[in-house]
Amino acid sequence: MGASRPAISVQGLTKRFGGFTAVDSVSFEVQPGEVVGYLGPNGSGKTTTIRMLCGLLSPTAGTAQVMGVDVVRDPEGVKPHIGYMSQKFALYDDLTVRENLEFYAEVYEVPREVEQERLAEVIRLAGLEGRTGALASELSGGWRQRLALGCALVHRPPLLFLDEPTSGVDPVARREFWDVIYQLAAAGTTVFVTTHYMDEAEHCGRVGFMHRGRLLAYDTPRALKAQHLHGVAWDLAANPLLEAVEVLSGLPGIAQARLHGDRAHVIVTPGDWTPENLTARLAGHGITVSAVQPVEPTLEDVFTLLAHQ
Ligand SMILES: Nc1ncnc2c1ncn2[C@@H]1O[C@H](COP(=O)(O)OP(=O)(O)OP(=O)(O)O)[C@@H](O)[C@H]1O
Ligand SMILES: [Mg+2]
Repeated sequence: MGASRPAISVQGLTKRFGGFTAVDSVSFEVQPGEVVGYLGPNGSGKTTTIRMLCGLLSPTAGTAQVMGVDVVRDPEGVKPHIGYMSQKFALYDDLTVRENLEFYAEVYEVPREVEQERLAEVIRLAGLEGRTGALASELSGGWRQRLALGCALVHRPPLLFLDEPTSGVDPVARREFWDVIYQLAAAGTTVFVTTHYMDEAEHCGRVGFMHRGRLLAYDTPRALKAQHLHGVAWDLAANPLLEAVEVLSGLPGIAQARLHGDRAHVIVTPGDWTPENLTARLAGHGITVSAVQPVEPTLEDVFTLLAHQ
Protein backbone atom coordinates (compact mmCIF):
# COMPACT_ATOMS: atom_id res chain seq x y z
CA MET A 1 0.00 0.00 0.00
CA GLY A 2 1.27 3.46 -0.82
CA ALA A 3 1.42 6.17 1.79
CA SER A 4 -2.09 7.44 2.24
CA ARG A 5 -2.86 11.01 3.18
CA PRO A 6 -3.05 11.46 6.97
CA ALA A 7 -6.54 12.07 8.38
CA ILE A 8 -5.05 14.81 10.55
CA SER A 9 -1.73 16.57 10.13
CA VAL A 10 -0.81 19.31 12.59
CA GLN A 11 2.33 21.47 12.61
CA GLY A 12 3.16 23.96 15.34
CA LEU A 13 -0.48 24.50 16.23
CA THR A 14 -0.76 27.27 18.80
CA LYS A 15 -3.62 29.09 20.52
CA ARG A 16 -3.14 32.07 22.77
CA PHE A 17 -5.93 33.74 24.73
CA GLY A 18 -4.46 37.16 25.50
CA GLY A 19 -1.13 36.47 27.19
CA PHE A 20 -2.04 32.88 28.04
CA THR A 21 -0.91 30.05 25.76
CA ALA A 22 -3.56 27.31 25.88
CA VAL A 23 -2.02 25.22 23.06
CA ASP A 24 1.71 25.58 22.56
CA SER A 25 3.20 24.57 19.21
CA VAL A 26 1.65 21.12 18.95
CA SER A 27 2.57 18.80 16.05
CA PHE A 28 1.26 15.32 15.26
CA GLU A 29 -0.31 13.15 12.60
CA VAL A 30 -3.23 10.75 12.69
CA GLN A 31 -3.50 8.05 10.02
CA PRO A 32 -6.83 6.99 8.53
CA GLY A 33 -8.61 4.37 10.64
CA GLU A 34 -6.55 5.06 13.77
CA VAL A 35 -8.07 5.46 17.23
CA VAL A 36 -6.05 8.16 18.98
CA GLY A 37 -6.54 8.89 22.66
CA TYR A 38 -5.74 12.40 23.87
CA LEU A 39 -5.02 12.73 27.58
CA GLY A 40 -3.94 15.42 29.97
CA PRO A 41 -5.00 17.18 33.15
CA ASN A 42 -7.88 19.66 33.25
CA GLY A 43 -6.98 22.82 31.38
CA SER A 44 -4.07 21.27 29.47
CA GLY A 45 -5.50 22.27 26.07
CA LYS A 46 -7.29 19.17 24.76
CA THR A 47 -10.63 20.82 23.96
CA THR A 48 -8.93 23.89 22.53
CA THR A 49 -6.94 21.63 20.17
CA ILE A 50 -10.09 19.82 19.02
CA ARG A 51 -11.98 23.07 18.48
CA MET A 52 -9.20 24.34 16.21
CA LEU A 53 -9.21 21.07 14.26
CA CYS A 54 -12.99 21.30 13.83
CA GLY A 55 -12.70 24.79 12.39
CA LEU A 56 -14.49 26.34 15.38
CA LEU A 57 -11.57 28.35 16.73
CA SER A 58 -8.86 29.97 14.66
CA PRO A 59 -5.27 29.14 15.62
CA THR A 60 -2.87 31.90 16.65
CA ALA A 61 -0.07 30.13 14.76
CA GLY A 62 0.67 26.88 13.00
CA THR A 63 -1.11 24.86 10.37
CA ALA A 64 -3.47 21.91 10.36
CA GLN A 65 -4.86 19.74 7.58
CA VAL A 66 -7.97 17.75 8.43
CA MET A 67 -9.09 15.23 5.80
CA GLY A 68 -6.92 17.16 3.36
CA VAL A 69 -8.55 20.51 4.10
CA ASP A 70 -6.45 23.40 5.43
CA VAL A 71 -8.31 24.35 8.62
CA VAL A 72 -6.71 27.78 8.85
CA ARG A 73 -7.65 28.83 5.32
CA ASP A 74 -10.94 26.97 5.06
CA PRO A 75 -12.49 26.29 8.49
CA GLU A 76 -15.93 25.72 6.95
CA GLY A 77 -14.51 23.22 4.49
CA VAL A 78 -13.65 20.64 7.14
CA LYS A 79 -17.13 20.46 8.63
CA PRO A 80 -18.72 18.04 6.13
CA HIS A 81 -15.86 15.57 6.75
CA ILE A 82 -16.03 15.43 10.52
CA GLY A 83 -18.31 14.50 13.38
CA TYR A 84 -17.85 16.30 16.68
CA MET A 85 -19.24 15.22 20.00
CA SER A 86 -18.32 18.13 22.21
CA GLN A 87 -17.66 17.99 25.92
CA LYS A 88 -20.91 19.85 26.56
CA PHE A 89 -22.99 18.55 23.69
CA ALA A 90 -26.47 19.91 23.14
CA LEU A 91 -29.44 17.59 22.97
CA TYR A 92 -32.99 18.83 22.80
CA ASP A 93 -34.61 17.61 25.99
CA ASP A 94 -38.15 18.13 24.76
CA LEU A 95 -37.51 16.08 21.61
CA THR A 96 -37.40 12.29 21.42
CA VAL A 97 -34.30 10.29 20.55
CA ARG A 98 -35.48 9.94 16.95
CA GLU A 99 -36.38 13.63 16.70
CA ASN A 100 -32.94 14.63 17.97
CA LEU A 101 -31.34 12.46 15.29
CA GLU A 102 -33.67 13.94 12.64
CA PHE A 103 -32.73 17.42 13.78
CA TYR A 104 -29.02 16.73 13.36
CA ALA A 105 -29.64 15.02 10.01
CA GLU A 106 -31.11 18.30 8.84
CA VAL A 107 -28.28 20.38 10.31
CA TYR A 108 -25.75 18.20 8.48
CA GLU A 109 -27.84 18.29 5.32
CA VAL A 110 -28.35 14.56 5.00
CA PRO A 111 -30.28 14.13 1.73
CA ARG A 112 -33.97 13.42 2.30
CA GLU A 113 -33.98 10.23 0.27
CA VAL A 114 -31.35 8.54 2.44
CA GLU A 115 -32.41 10.00 5.79
CA GLN A 116 -34.54 7.10 7.06
CA GLU A 117 -31.93 4.54 6.10
CA ARG A 118 -29.21 6.64 7.74
CA LEU A 119 -31.18 7.06 10.96
CA ALA A 120 -31.78 3.30 11.15
CA GLU A 121 -28.03 2.75 10.72
CA VAL A 122 -27.12 5.23 13.45
CA ILE A 123 -29.76 3.83 15.83
CA ARG A 124 -28.30 0.38 15.34
CA LEU A 125 -24.68 1.52 15.64
CA ALA A 126 -25.23 3.59 18.76
CA GLY A 127 -27.40 0.85 20.27
CA LEU A 128 -30.45 3.09 20.59
CA GLU A 129 -33.00 0.47 19.52
CA GLY A 130 -36.02 0.40 21.78
CA ARG A 131 -35.37 3.95 22.96
CA THR A 132 -36.19 5.96 19.86
CA GLY A 133 -39.49 7.21 21.29
CA ALA A 134 -38.05 8.29 24.66
CA LEU A 135 -37.64 11.99 25.37
CA ALA A 136 -33.99 13.01 25.64
CA SER A 137 -34.79 14.42 29.09
CA GLU A 138 -35.74 10.90 30.25
CA LEU A 139 -32.40 9.32 29.30
CA SER A 140 -29.76 8.38 31.85
CA GLY A 141 -26.19 9.60 31.40
CA GLY A 142 -24.98 6.60 29.40
CA TRP A 143 -27.90 6.78 26.98
CA ARG A 144 -27.47 10.52 26.51
CA GLN A 145 -23.83 9.96 25.51
CA ARG A 146 -24.91 7.36 22.99
CA LEU A 147 -27.53 9.64 21.53
CA ALA A 148 -24.95 12.43 21.31
CA LEU A 149 -22.64 10.03 19.49
CA GLY A 150 -25.49 9.08 17.15
CA CYS A 151 -26.10 12.75 16.41
CA ALA A 152 -22.41 13.21 15.52
CA LEU A 153 -22.65 10.26 13.10
CA VAL A 154 -25.77 11.01 11.04
CA HIS A 155 -23.77 12.37 8.08
CA ARG A 156 -21.39 9.38 8.16
CA PRO A 157 -18.20 11.37 8.79
CA PRO A 158 -14.90 9.59 8.07
CA LEU A 159 -13.33 11.39 11.05
CA LEU A 160 -14.85 11.62 14.49
CA PHE A 161 -13.81 13.92 17.36
CA LEU A 162 -15.08 12.78 20.74
CA ASP A 163 -14.37 15.08 23.68
CA GLU A 164 -14.61 13.12 26.94
CA PRO A 165 -17.50 11.03 25.64
CA THR A 166 -17.54 8.72 28.66
CA SER A 167 -17.12 11.16 31.53
CA GLY A 168 -19.56 10.41 34.33
CA VAL A 169 -20.70 7.16 32.75
CA ASP A 170 -20.71 3.85 34.66
CA PRO A 171 -18.10 1.17 33.79
CA VAL A 172 -20.49 -1.08 31.88
CA ALA A 173 -21.82 1.80 29.79
CA ARG A 174 -18.23 2.94 29.19
CA ARG A 175 -17.30 -0.47 27.83
CA GLU A 176 -20.36 -0.52 25.60
CA PHE A 177 -19.51 2.94 24.32
CA TRP A 178 -16.00 1.77 23.46
CA ASP A 179 -17.44 -1.23 21.64
CA VAL A 180 -19.18 1.27 19.38
CA ILE A 181 -15.90 3.16 18.88
CA TYR A 182 -14.14 -0.07 17.86
CA GLN A 183 -16.94 -0.94 15.45
CA LEU A 184 -16.63 2.46 13.83
CA ALA A 185 -12.85 2.13 13.60
CA ALA A 186 -13.14 -1.37 12.14
CA ALA A 187 -15.38 0.09 9.45
CA GLY A 188 -12.68 2.66 8.62
CA THR A 189 -13.65 5.69 10.69
CA THR A 190 -10.76 7.64 12.22
CA VAL A 191 -11.41 8.47 15.88
CA PHE A 192 -9.76 11.19 17.95
CA VAL A 193 -10.96 10.90 21.52
CA THR A 194 -10.09 12.69 24.74
CA THR A 195 -10.37 10.88 28.04
CA HIS A 196 -9.22 10.95 31.64
CA TYR A 197 -9.47 7.17 31.93
CA MET A 198 -6.18 5.27 31.67
CA ASP A 199 -7.90 1.98 30.84
CA GLU A 200 -9.39 3.66 27.78
CA ALA A 201 -6.03 5.10 26.79
CA GLU A 202 -4.45 1.64 27.00
CA HIS A 203 -6.82 0.50 24.28
CA CYS A 204 -6.05 3.27 21.82
CA GLY A 205 -3.71 2.68 18.90
CA ARG A 206 -1.80 5.79 19.87
CA VAL A 207 -2.02 8.22 22.74
CA GLY A 208 -1.05 11.84 23.11
CA PHE A 209 -0.33 13.39 26.47
CA MET A 210 -0.94 17.13 26.88
CA HIS A 211 0.47 19.12 29.77
CA ARG A 212 0.17 22.91 30.06
CA GLY A 213 -0.58 23.28 26.38
CA ARG A 214 2.29 21.13 25.18
CA LEU A 215 2.12 17.68 23.67
CA LEU A 216 4.70 15.86 25.81
CA ALA A 217 4.30 12.43 24.27
CA TYR A 218 2.63 10.88 21.26
CA ASP A 219 3.09 7.18 20.56
CA THR A 220 1.61 3.72 21.04
CA PRO A 221 0.97 2.79 24.70
CA ARG A 222 3.50 -0.02 24.36
CA ALA A 223 6.24 2.26 23.01
CA LEU A 224 5.62 4.88 25.67
CA LYS A 225 6.04 2.30 28.40
CA ALA A 226 9.05 0.70 26.71
CA GLN A 227 10.87 4.06 26.65
CA HIS A 228 10.58 4.18 30.43
CA LEU A 229 10.98 0.53 31.30
CA HIS A 230 14.18 0.79 33.26
CA GLY A 231 14.02 2.03 36.77
CA VAL A 232 11.05 4.37 36.53
CA ALA A 233 8.46 2.60 38.65
CA TRP A 234 9.50 0.93 41.88
CA ASP A 235 7.63 -1.22 44.30
CA LEU A 236 8.85 -0.60 47.82
CA ALA A 237 8.20 -2.35 51.13
CA ALA A 238 9.18 -0.37 54.21
CA ASN A 239 8.42 0.15 57.85
CA PRO A 240 6.83 2.46 58.81
CA LEU A 241 5.33 2.68 55.33
CA LEU A 242 3.35 5.89 55.69
CA GLU A 243 6.45 7.77 56.84
CA ALA A 244 8.42 6.33 53.93
CA VAL A 245 5.83 7.70 51.49
CA GLU A 246 5.98 11.07 53.20
CA VAL A 247 9.79 11.28 53.08
CA LEU A 248 9.90 10.04 49.48
CA SER A 249 7.33 12.62 48.38
CA GLY A 250 9.64 15.39 49.51
CA LEU A 251 12.78 14.14 47.77
CA PRO A 252 14.10 15.63 44.53
CA GLY A 253 14.05 13.10 41.70
CA ILE A 254 10.97 11.35 43.03
CA ALA A 255 8.05 12.21 40.74
CA GLN A 256 5.52 10.51 42.96
CA ALA A 257 5.22 8.17 45.93
CA ARG A 258 1.91 6.71 46.99
CA LEU A 259 0.48 3.83 48.95
CA HIS A 260 -0.36 0.78 46.92
CA GLY A 261 -1.85 -1.89 49.14
CA ASP A 262 0.80 -2.83 51.73
CA ARG A 263 3.58 -1.39 49.55
CA ALA A 264 4.53 1.98 48.15
CA HIS A 265 4.54 2.71 44.43
CA VAL A 266 7.32 5.12 43.59
CA ILE A 267 7.95 6.95 40.31
CA VAL A 268 11.59 7.87 40.02
CA THR A 269 13.18 10.34 37.62
CA PRO A 270 15.83 8.32 35.80
CA GLY A 271 19.40 9.00 36.91
CA ASP A 272 19.29 10.22 40.49
CA TRP A 273 18.39 7.22 42.57
CA THR A 274 19.40 3.60 42.94
CA PRO A 275 17.64 1.09 45.21
CA GLU A 276 20.75 1.21 47.42
CA ASN A 277 21.06 4.95 47.93
CA LEU A 278 17.30 5.29 48.37
CA THR A 279 17.35 2.60 51.04
CA ALA A 280 20.23 4.39 52.78
CA ARG A 281 18.40 7.71 52.58
CA LEU A 282 15.28 6.26 54.19
CA ALA A 283 17.40 4.55 56.85
CA GLY A 284 18.64 8.04 57.78
CA HIS A 285 15.02 8.82 58.66
CA GLY A 286 14.71 5.68 60.81
CA ILE A 287 12.82 3.81 58.11
CA THR A 288 13.64 0.18 57.32
CA VAL A 289 13.33 -0.83 53.68
CA SER A 290 12.77 -4.57 53.28
CA ALA A 291 12.40 -4.63 49.49
CA VAL A 292 12.74 -2.32 46.49
CA GLN A 293 12.22 -3.60 43.02
CA PRO A 294 11.58 -2.02 39.65
CA VAL A 295 8.18 -2.93 38.20
CA GLU A 296 6.81 -2.42 34.72
CA PRO A 297 5.44 1.13 34.55
CA THR A 298 1.82 1.75 33.69
CA LEU A 299 0.79 4.43 31.21
CA GLU A 300 -0.22 6.55 34.18
CA ASP A 301 3.30 6.19 35.64
CA VAL A 302 4.79 7.40 32.36
CA PHE A 303 2.49 10.43 32.28
CA THR A 304 3.24 11.21 35.92
CA LEU A 305 6.93 11.16 35.11
CA LEU A 306 6.55 13.32 31.98
CA ALA A 307 4.42 15.87 33.81
CA HIS A 308 7.04 16.06 36.57
CA GLN A 309 10.02 16.68 34.28
N1 LIG B 1 -12.18 31.20 25.14
C1 LIG B 1 -11.24 31.15 26.07
N2 LIG B 1 -10.73 32.29 26.62
C2 LIG B 1 -9.76 32.24 27.55
N3 LIG B 1 -9.19 31.11 28.00
C3 LIG B 1 -9.65 29.95 27.51
C4 LIG B 1 -10.69 29.89 26.52
N4 LIG B 1 -10.92 28.60 26.20
C5 LIG B 1 -10.06 27.89 26.98
N5 LIG B 1 -9.31 28.68 27.75
C6 LIG B 1 -8.26 28.24 28.68
O1 LIG B 1 -7.34 27.43 27.98
C7 LIG B 1 -6.88 26.36 28.81
C8 LIG B 1 -7.11 25.05 28.12
O2 LIG B 1 -8.51 24.76 28.12
P1 LIG B 1 -9.10 23.45 27.48
O3 LIG B 1 -10.58 23.54 27.61
O4 LIG B 1 -8.55 23.26 26.12
O5 LIG B 1 -8.53 22.33 28.43
P2 LIG B 1 -8.86 20.76 28.48
O6 LIG B 1 -7.55 20.06 28.38
O7 LIG B 1 -9.91 20.44 27.51
O8 LIG B 1 -9.42 20.58 29.98
P3 LIG B 1 -10.57 19.61 30.57
O9 LIG B 1 -9.90 18.27 30.81
O10 LIG B 1 -10.95 20.28 31.85
O11 LIG B 1 -11.69 19.56 29.59
C9 LIG B 1 -7.63 26.51 30.13
O12 LIG B 1 -6.78 27.16 31.04
C10 LIG B 1 -8.81 27.36 29.78
O13 LIG B 1 -9.24 28.12 30.88
MG1 LIG C 1 -11.81 19.71 27.64
